Amino acid sequence: MKGLILSGGRGTRLRPITYTSAKQLVPVANKPILFFGIEWMREAGITDIGIIVGDTHAEIKKACGDGSRWGVKITYIHQTEPLGLAHAVGTAQEYLQDSPFVVYLGDNLVKDGISTLVKEFENDRPNAQILLAHVKNPQEFGVAELEGDRIVRLVEKPKEPKSDLALVGVYMFDSTVWEAIASLKPSARGEYEITDAIQYLVTTGYNVRSHIVQGWWKDTGRLEDLLEANRLLLETQERSLNGEMDDASNAQGRVQIGKGTKVVRSQIRGPVVIGENCLIEDAYIGPFTSIQDGAQVVGSEVEHSILLENSKVLHIGGRMEDSLLGKDVEVRRDDRKPRAYRFMLGDNSQVNVI
Ligand code: DAU
Repeated sequence: MKGLILSGGRGTRLRPITYTSAKQLVPVANKPILFFGIEWMREAGITDIGIIVGDTHAEIKKACGDGSRWGVKITYIHQTEPLGLAHAVGTAQEYLQDSPFVVYLGDNLVKDGISTLVKEFENDRPNAQILLAHVKNPQEFGVAELEGDRIVRLVEKPKEPKSDLALVGVYMFDSTVWEAIASLKPSARGEYEITDAIQYLVTTGYNVRSHIVQGWWKDTGRLEDLLEANRLLLETQERSLNGEMDDASNAQGRVQIGKGTKVVRSQIRGPVVIGENCLIEDAYIGPFTSIQDGAQVVGSEVEHSILLENSKVLHIGGRMEDSLLGKDVEVRRDDRKPRAYRFMLGDNSQVNVI
């Protein structure tokens, strides 16, 4: 069994972060989303992993290397243009050949990993196996219509969904998928859809099995989903305090603090993860916050947020929440006269003032 992780695409819904960084490398609980996919494949016994890359190939290769860190062998496969998930899978045909394989969307997170599902697929050998989850907004996903256990129809992002069962970004195929992909025409949004390839398998009478996922699943394509995934992962982390914390500070609950980090006159209420070489001073860090290496929070309160490397929140005198700050971003109080908001924001930035 081989693995294929799709990490091309453009990530438009997370702009401006994705202007300079691949969406699959945005961290949740201080770990790039993509790493979870690699780890879950490894856990399922898959050690040959192809990663589909596009414009952001250099950054993804730098982050994942040859895979030896996880004891897997990573092969990078370049997709020249993001023409759809089925196109991305088709690009990997030479790499996958006749092997059965798991496709994992590089921006998806599945709580319980994929080991049980891979085992089941290997034992029973249907032609394809898909995962489904009940969602509140099915029109934003591929949607399945079932009759009992049988899949009747799959539609990509339908305007009027016939069910609330979304296709989760983990698929298993045998080599019949090549015939399905070869039959595809671009969809209304101009992409070769994996949903249509699976529909072809269903219509042609191949054995396509579905599973409804029990634990949580997140497509982290939008900020609110990313923050929610961050919350769900932090909830299960262990407490571990490194760095230095003075007597006027305290850390309650599931808090992780990395080496070289200084906590001064601050309150930290877990679950929270703070990376290495950060400065937390005269601050409150509230639940469900992930702060990456080198960041600073001084004279400010931060909750339910993700701060990337070397970002700074300085003396804002209030609370920042539900926020994502990119690398080296600075949010600070400015006491110069005249008193005014002063911004320098990239395209597609969003600021909400009170
Ligand atoms: O998250 C589950 C949903 O994923 C499914 O319910 C949908 O049926 C499926 O089409 C897909 O929808 P999205 O619109 O969310 O897919 P997105 O464009 O975000 O791409 C998913 C991953 O695949 C992402 O890591 C980028 C990568 N990708 C995407 C395209 C279009 C590629 O590597 N190449 C591509 O051409």
